[in-house]
Amino acid sequence: MSTLVTRPLDASLAASSEAVIAKKILVLGATSGIAEATCRIWAAEGAQMFLVARNAEKLAAVAADLKLRGASYVGTAVADLDDTDKHAELLAHAVNSLTGMDIAFLAHGILGDQARGEQEFEHAAQIIYTNFMAPVSLLTWLANYCLQRHAGVIAVLSSVAGERGRKSNYMYGASKAGLSTYLSGLRNRVDREGVTVITIKPGPVKTSMTAGMKGAEKFADVHKVAATIVKAIDKRVDTLYVPIIFLPIMFIVRHIPERIFKKLNL
Ligand SMILES: NC(=O)c1ccc[n+]([C@@H]2O[C@H](COP(=O)([O-])OP(=O)(O)OC[C@H]3O[C@@H](n4cnc5c(N)ncnc54)[C@H](OP(=O)(O)O)[C@@H]3O)[C@@H](O)[C@H]2O)c1
Repeated sequence: MSTLVTRPLDASLAASSEAVIAKKILVLGATSGIAEATCRIWAAEGAQMFLVARNAEKLAAVAADLKLRGASYVGTAVADLDDTDKHAELLAHAVNSLTGMDIAFLAHGILGDQARGEQEFEHAAQIIYTNFMAPVSLLTWLANYCLQRHAGVIAVLSSVAGERGRKSNYMYGASKAGLSTYLSGLRNRVDREGVTVITIKPGPVKTSMTAGMKGAEKFADVHKVAATIVKAIDKRVDTLYVPIIFLPIMFIVRHIPERIFKKLNL
């Protein structure tokens, strides 16, 4: 089994400050471009991973690739994460399969179609459901699991789009704003109990979600974004803007007066 030297995140290993362990990582939405690139880094470190995705074929390909790259264990489950009724059973199976969990990485999400959502409530609701309601269901279970152990890192892909509503994507932005606010409250609840909640706010990244968008060639490289995410999780930061230039950019965007902001074509 490949191993790495790391700070133990599991309470059962807390007695040893430099135990040789492989990280146990649960990845939800494992076929996402950002998740796959991040998992490749963890695989090279010898991590043990449990991958959940809804497309069986893509999931099998990702799992096989991660094993080749050095993952010491890869378990998988096919699931539509909108199916919140099945979350408890799915997550219990995943942590049993991993025999514990150090890190949960929530990566699934949809961009949706802003123009369609403006006409059809059902589509707007779908965006909110997949990006906000389903993560809340997963986070409820995961937070309580970690709280019982006073350990664990929960890292979630939100977005800079949640920082301010823009006419071009406020359905998606609203779903991510809700998610970021939920994570902030969850962090406030669980941090004192030894559980870390990390809100990851990427700017535009080159993945299938943004393929074909205007200016996509200038978007951030997914492998650089993944490397930054792995470091942030190791350091247990609270909030990560990636690339880091989005930290000052979003500061400015948040502070533009509404009377000016409402006239901008964004
Ligand atoms: N790319 C960006 O510019 C960017 C910027 C900020 C935030 N983010 C966020 O980062 C995360 C990953 O995005 P990405 O860029 O890696 O996009 P991506 O490659 O399109 O990945 C999205 C993933 O979510 C999965 N998914 C969607 N709905 C699902 C459901 N109901 N059940 C299970 N899986 C579901 C998709 O599965 P299928 O392959 O089966 O459709 C896909 O694997 C998302 O939350 C996204 O909002 C992305």
